[in-house]
Amino acid sequence: MTQMQFPKSFYWGVSTSAYQIEGASEEDGRGASIWDVFSHQPGKVVGGDTGDIACDSYHRVEEDLDLLDTLGVGMYRFSIAWPRIIPDGSGEINRLGLAYYDQLVDGLLAKGILPLCTLYHWDLPQSLQEKGGWANRQTAFAFEHYAGIVFEHFRGRIMHWITINEPWCVSFLSYALGQHAPGLTDLQAALEAAHHTLLAHGLGVKLFRAMNMPGQIGIAPNTEWFEPETDSIDDREAALRRNEFITDWFIAPVLKGIYPARVIEKYNQGGYTVPIKDGDFELISLPIDFLGINYYTGGRVRSTPGEGILELQETFTPMDKTDFHWNIYPDGFYHVLTDLKEKFGNIPIYITENGACFIDPIVDGQVQDKRRIAYLESHLDALHRSVQAGVNVQGYMCWSLMDNFEWSFGYCKPFGLVHVDFQTLIRTPKASFSWYQRVIRHHGLE
Ligand code: FCB
Repeated sequence: MTQMQFPKSFYWGVSTSAYQIEGASEEDGRGASIWDVFSHQPGKVVGGDTGDIACDSYHRVEEDLDLLDTLGVGMYRFSIAWPRIIPDGSGEINRLGLAYYDQLVDGLLAKGILPLCTLYHWDLPQSLQEKGGWANRQTAFAFEHYAGIVFEHFRGRIMHWITINEPWCVSFLSYALGQHAPGLTDLQAALEAAHHTLLAHGLGVKLFRAMNMPGQIGIAPNTEWFEPETDSIDDREAALRRNEFITDWFIAPVLKGIYPARVIEKYNQGGYTVPIKDGDFELISLPIDFLGINYYTGGRVRSTPGEGILELQETFTPMDKTDFHWNIYPDGFYHVLTDLKEKFGNIPIYITENGACFIDPIVDGQVQDKRRIAYLESHLDALHRSVQAGVNVQGYMCWSLMDNFEWSFGYCKPFGLVHVDFQTLIRTPKASFSWYQRVIRHHGLE
């Protein structure tokens, strides 16, 4: 691996999310979220795992802050659990919930670590789900109300905000593919959910500006990169469509105020509609300060006759895979970033997630996760190339600080730089933790 230097001003950090690490699911007045309900339904999560205890970060704030400090990060991305702040989604405020995040945020600031706060990382209050969840337009307004409370409370302490994490997962994965809470398989509802998460984002940005909040606000869509399997027109078209289905469907409305025409056409042909109301695009496309990019994987795609709308078939590729069976495709990272610049201009970007699942044992108190280090090195290399190509990247948050509740896979898919023993909750930094420490110290790879 060649030497690579990032600017001294570049932010290095790690990412987590509330439901995946906090636990304490019934403590201090927290309401139930859709993930509490979903994970307790038999057969939804591998091994019947739930986030009831998770990494127990709710009770281990000081220990986790010390890990961040030792790692040397300049920024920490975490999320706030909406049902801790407003247990029923839209009613009374729970002061104890705010107090937990006070402890975390003040602890970060005391250590000189900037908080990068995600308002919504998938744990919708269950009472809102009972009214239709994200398929109900009102949920976007409930989000606006929740955002306003959190903005005011943390005014001047949190300077970097993300409205929604991975709206594709919030909508398509959860309402059409049934893999995440609430586990529905209704494409029309997914399109509604997708539109309403974007609307919630727009309402959040509008409020942020109206409240004269200091700092920056953005959104963190998931991205993937697909190449055509062959050079045929059909395969090239399928790859473009696939990229647009996942990535541009959420980025084009925010940065350009439109949905990608090719994809809308596909949905309309299938008899599906997007519930766009007058004025929605004005809200959704209000200027943001940065774009958060989550990137893990990509692949090759070929046009498959009779393909379903969401089932563009991926052909087998000879790429190496992580232990999550995701292709390891660092060039895809480069393509996502340079393509964004070409299509949407040079908006500041934070990499809000990138990392890999590899299952390595603890031996004599050590975890030698060499494959994670190789994955991260190759992705930093791609990132560095994109910076050299002029992409305006401001920071990189590795997913994740520690092994955690990996949604419908429970605890069997570790992504952490720190190993967590889910029996004892003991944290053990892996080899990748020391490796990342050096990257941070040297602003890149020596
Ligand atoms: C992303 C999620 C994050 C984590 C990683 C592995 O899709 O945003 O919470 O689960 O995948």
